[in-house]
Amino acid sequence: MTFVVTENCIKCKYTDCVEVCPVDCFYEGANMLVIHPDECIDCGVCVPECPAEAIVADNEPAATDFWLGINRRYADAWPNIASRKAPLPSADLQNGRADKICELSTCPGVTEEAV
Ligand code: SF4
Ligand code: F3S
Repeated sequence: MTFVVTENCIKCKYTDCVEVCPVDCFYEGANMLVIHPDECIDCGVCVPECPAEAIVADNEPAATDFWLGINRRYADAWPNIASRKAPLPSADLQNGRADKICELSTCPGVTEEAV
């Protein structure tokens, strides 16, 4: 079992989740984070910390094969993030907006220009 970051993280990236993860298993793309499924210890403490309610357990309906695949693929491609930072500037406007998947950036890292 693992926990999975899903669509509503896109363009929000609040990073409150990072602050509480005991094993630092979050990885950072330009406009979303993912969880490394082999490193997550299933503690669940990140779930209530996310203002976007974007983190789910892999046995929940929102943890589709698509999102499991995104987390696995980009956890291997993006850099680790181990401490909280400012959310993306548009985070509160983007929180809850539908159909953000087409705006997922596959670029690694941190620059607002890449969002
Ligand atoms: Fe980290 Fe626990 Fe969240 Fe897994 S469930 S990502 S170990 S805080
Ligand atoms: Fe994303 Fe929520 Fe973490 S928006 S960066 S999963 S706190």
